[in-house]
Formats: sequence, structure tokens, C-alpha cells
Amino acid sequence: MLLSIIILAAGQGKRMHSKLPKVLHRLAGKPLLEHVIKAATDLNSNTPPIVIYGHQGDKVMKDLSHHKIHWVEQKEQLGTGHAIMQALPSIPENHQVMILSGDVPLISVQTLQALIAATPPTGLGMITANFPHPTGLGRIIRDQHHKIIRIVEEKDATAIEHEIHEINSGIYLTTTKHLQSWLPTLKNTNAQSEYYLTDIIPLAIKENITIHSIQPAHFEEVYGVNDRAQLAFLERFHQHQLALHFMRKGLTLLDPHRFDIRGELTVGEDVTIDLNVIIEGNVTLGNNCRIGANCILRDCIIGDNVEIKANTIIEDADIASDCVIGPFARIRPGTALSSQVHIGNFVEIKNSAIAKGTKINHLSYIGDATIGELVNIGAGTITCNYDGFNKHRTQIGDRVQVGSDSTLVAPISIHDDVYIATATTVRNDVPAGSLVFNRRTEELRAGWTANKRSQLNKSAKEK
Ligand code: UD1
Ligand code: CA
Repeated sequence: MLLSIIILAAGQGKRMHSKLPKVLHRLAGKPLLEHVIKAATDLNSNTPPIVIYGHQGDKVMKDLSHHKIHWVEQKEQLGTGHAIMQALPSIPENHQVMILSGDVPLISVQTLQALIAATPPTGLGMITANFPHPTGLGRIIRDQHHKIIRIVEEKDATAIEHEIHEINSGIYLTTTKHLQSWLPTLKNTNAQSEYYLTDIIPLAIKENITIHSIQPAHFEEVYGVNDRAQLAFLERFHQHQLALHFMRKGLTLLDPHRFDIRGELTVGEDVTIDLNVIIEGNVTLGNNCRIGANCILRDCIIGDNVEIKANTIIEDADIASDCVIGPFARIRPGTALSSQVHIGNFVEIKNSAIAKGTKINHLSYIGDATIGELVNIGAGTITCNYDGFNKHRTQIGDRVQVGSDSTLVAPISIHDDVYIATATTVRNDVPAGSLVFNRRTEELRAGWTANKRSQLNKSAKEK
């Protein structure tokens, strides 16, 4: 049977105490809803998922506009049953319908497939789980034959029902036809005056439909986020799962509890990552890379045998093989380092291409530059790329030696084999093979220090 998937995402998420709609709060760097959309599309790529939006719908639609989604509005949030009603006109008569929650982000495709396998095509299936702390969730009520007969919400439950640890995940599978017949009969006579989707269970039972249920491998897969403490709990669980996944594929993490991925990581063989490293966006690490403690790598491609020392930040950059970067280096967007480049401490590089074997080892700013091979940039070198109006480029040829504390005023071209003396301000292009320096006189006053001290002593005594 063909499948439609509906994702509930219209609620405000009062318990988040936030201006941001709950489903846009982030887990592993992505909105909660985006995780669910990904699971839905991985499961069923034929039909885009139907997402029920409502509270701050414009914002929700905008943040997820890069996904193929059939959006359906729920103008007033009158409950989960009412929300699904809004989607009825959008689902074909002959479809099975899976219902997911926008605030239950870690549901896996395998578990959803298991739900499909466990549910007869015209039946009703749901995912339940045993929670150590079920507070706040709908509890599963079973009869003496262990058959599910209804779901009771926390606020409507008796003291005895509160003791039940089996909870409703909010994930169901049934058919369009059943929903069409059951939903219009829901009542809102409960503690929250809402039309509960959970009330379809007794309606199915009345029609002698057995409720099939499965459980996920980890209860966290169906753990819903209602407040920020739950979000933080789920983030830690998810990060640990990601760490385990990468360790099993051969990545060495010196402490898997201090490693965060907020995006996609591709990693080669024999890579070692030290403590507190954050991976964001799309990051590729080649073979034999070593990443030191406290590094942030965002949207970058790192080649083989690269060593990134502690406290280095790399964003939107291409780093070829055998480079050494850091500690305390900042590689900003638009940077491309060829192989064997060395970037040392307190060096900032932006929008620059640096060719093979070049070294920039200490305290420099290189912005909007193209630098050739085997160049040595001395400590404290600055490319003056901004004149207050526009940014300009600095071109440096091969084998150039830039003395410490030099300033290169762009736009400027420094050709191959140039020597720039220490502390030179270079304002004009320099032809290949030249030496360039600023003429300054150096003066010396012998005995100056002793004179100065005795003067100071004398005036102190007079006071
Ligand atoms: C719901 C279930 C509960 C289950 C829990 C699992 C009901 C009545 N209760 O409770 O049994 O244990 O999920 O996490 O279904 N939403 C709408 N429109 C609405 C109301 C809610 O789209 O009018 C959306 C919310 O944005 C959210 C989802 O539905 O994504 C669940 O709503 P929420 O208020 O969080 O329900 P729970 O109290 O968690
Ligand atoms: Ca919830």
C-alpha cells in the first residue's frame, strides 16, 4: 500500500519558554523538525511529507524551505487529533498514513520500517517504549491479555495509571479511511480541552481492530522534547551515538564524551581527535590527520597527514595534505592551502590561496592574498587589504622572504624571489629578485639609561 507521512509541528512548545517555535530548536545543529523530515524522506522518498504548521508558521516554513514538503496549516492549535484533521483533504483515500511528531527527532528509519512490518495494511500500529521517567507522557493502558485498549494523558491519569512506564511515542500507522471515519467523532472533554489523537485507539477497538505495537532499540529514539533539559539530554545521547558510530568505523576519539558533530563528517583512516573538538556543517578529514584539543572545524576539506594543533578554528576552507596548522590559528572562509603549508600560532588567514611549502608561523594577518610556493612570511606580517572603502588583493610570488613586522599595502604584487627587509612597509609592486626596505636611520646614545635613572632619582629626592 502507498504511504503518506504526516508530521505534527503546529504547537508552540510552551514548556521551552522561547520566542522560537519548539520544532526549530536545534539538535546536533539542525532544527528538531528537520531530523523528522529526514527520517520521513529516507523512509518514503516517493511522496513529500505533510507538515502541519501553525504557531509562527512563516518562520517554520522559511527555515525548512530547502526541503520538499507539503505544508498544511492548523490555524488554531486545538490538539493533535484536530491537527491531523487538517491534513485529511491532502491524503489520498487508498493510502496508509504514518503520523510522526516534529518534537520526537531521533526516530530511526529502521524502527519506522519495523512499524510498517508489524502493522496489517488496514490496521493500526503504534510505537511505544518503556521510559525510566515517564512523567508528562501519555501512558499505554493494556487489558489482561496485554492488548492495548487506550492511552491516557498524564493530566487525565489516575495515581495508579501514573505508575505505568510504558508510554505513547506519538508515532502511529493506520489508513486514510480509518482517520476519515474516526477523527470527526473526537471530543475535547478532557483536562486540556483538546481533541486528542490518542482517542482513536478506543474507536479502533470498537471496530474490533487490534492495536499492534513495537518498541525501538533505544527508548531515546522516541524521546520527545518538551523543555530545554530534555533537549540537552537528547543532544548528549545523540552525540554519544554519533561518537560510537565513528569509533566503530576507525576514528580515534580521545574522549567520546567531549566530541560534538553538528553536521556531516566524512573521515579517512587513522585519524585521531583530541578533546572538545566541534565539527560543524560538512567536514571531510583525510587519512592520518591529527586534530588537537578545542578545535572548531566548519565546512572544510582537510587532506591526508594534516596536523591541526590545539585551539584552531577553520571555516569554509580547503587544506591539502601534509599541512601543519596552529596552535591558536584562525583559518577563515575562502582559504585554500596547498600541501605542506605551515600556519603557526596567532595567524589569521582569510580568502587567500597559499601554495606548496609556504610558512606563516607567527602572529600574522593574511587577507585577500595569493602567495606562491616556498615563501616565508616573518612574524607579525600584515596584509593591509582594506583602505576603508574597498578590499584589495596582495600577490606574492615563489620563494619570497618577508621580514618580520612588515606591512604589505594592497593592491600590490611582489614577484618571485623578492626579499623584504624586516619592518618594511611595502606600497609599490616589487619586481622579481629585488630587495626592498625602508630607509630609516638608527641612532645610538651611549650611557643613556644610567643618565635617565640618575635624573629620575634626583627629582624623586627633591619632592
Ligand atoms: C503527545 C501525546 C502523548 C505522547 C506524547 C509523545 C496526545 C494527546 N498526546 O503529548 O500521548 O506520549 O505526545 O511525545 O497526542 N501539535 C500540533 N497541533 C496541536 C497540538 C500539538 O501540531 O494542536 C503538535 C506539536 O507541535 C508537537 C506534537 O503535536 O510536535 C505533540 O504535541 P505536544 O503538545 O508536545 O503533545 P504531548 O503533550 O507531548
Ligand atoms: Ca511532546
